[in-house]
Amino acid sequence: MTQIAFIGGGNMATSIIGGLVKQGETKPELVHVSDPNAEQVAKLNDEFGIQGHTDNAAAIANADVVIMAVKPQVMKQVLEPIKATLTERQPMLISIAAGINLPSLKAWSGCEAIVRCMPNTPSLLGLGATGLFASEQVTIDQRNIADALLRAVGISVWVQNEAEIDAVTAVSGSGPAYYFLLMEAMIAAGKKLGLSEETATQLTLQTAVGAGQMAQNADVDPAELRRRVTSPGGTTERAIQTFEAAHLRDIVEAALQAANDRGAELSEQLGD
Ligand SMILES: NC(=O)c1ccc[n+]([C@@H]2O[C@H](COP(=O)([O-])OP(=O)(O)OC[C@H]3O[C@@H](n4cnc5c(N)ncnc54)[C@H](OP(=O)(O)O)[C@@H]3O)[C@@H](O)[C@H]2O)c1
Repeated sequence: MTQIAFIGGGNMATSIIGGLVKQGETKPELVHVSDPNAEQVAKLNDEFGIQGHTDNAAAIANADVVIMAVKPQVMKQVLEPIKATLTERQPMLISIAAGINLPSLKAWSGCEAIVRCMPNTPSLLGLGATGLFASEQVTIDQRNIADALLRAVGISVWVQNEAEIDAVTAVSGSGPAYYFLLMEAMIAAGKKLGLSEETATQLTLQTAVGAGQMAQNADVDPAELRRRVTSPGGTTERAIQTFEAAHLRDIVEAALQAANDRGAELSEQLGD
């Protein structure tokens, strides 16, 4: 009978709560949410039957797990007034905020058992990919709880050291934007070839969904799937040769390295 408190009732918290309640993972009465916006709290109450609060202290009073779902910029000031209670009660603290590292979370909350997560935007549709890292004090049972919470909005993957969270940010955290960029470019190129915007968009989006689902359901890796649709002397081969000649792989590597480095930089800027 784990009691869970969400601090911040915005987009991510709403998605995770929705997933948890829909999957029957937890009883709604065991879920507490706190947000300064009373209307948002009332909406969450009505939709999911959870316990809403506008006072963070009330939400965490009996919590076993506290999920920090506020913007990174306000994390320190949100934790300050509840630090004494957290330090005394020692719930597991889960942070989904980008760029706030474990030492900062520990210093600001007084909690020992802390899980840091990096979800991505498709979580809002239940199709998220989340990387998680746990402090040494997190027990197996607590890991399982954190895992179940994030699996309510997609898949979850544990990483072995905190620096890998920056790599997760580079791959899946920022990843949706890379696919959106490719979609933009394909739509523009399709239009140049004479398609209407609507047709180019429909074809591009459905191709993205189809390729994603094929890759996920296949028993071979994406490289093999690509080989299978690239006939010698054909149209796909000509396009792939053009990508390779422009060093697409080097560009992707440099882009992910830049995102990784920015993640580390942000942790330093946002931390103590
Ligand atoms: N959205 C994503 O896909 C995504 C992906 C990866 C990571 N994240 C992380 O998830 C966290 C939440 O993101 P989000 O998209 O859910 O943001 P959001 O929709 O802005 O939700 C944050 C909520 O926290 C509330 N809040 C502000 N001050 C508070 C306080 N003192 N006490 C309690 N609640 C407070 C905000 O209320 P007001 O609006 O009234 O200020 C807002 O409702 C962020 O740290 C973000 O980095 C999000």
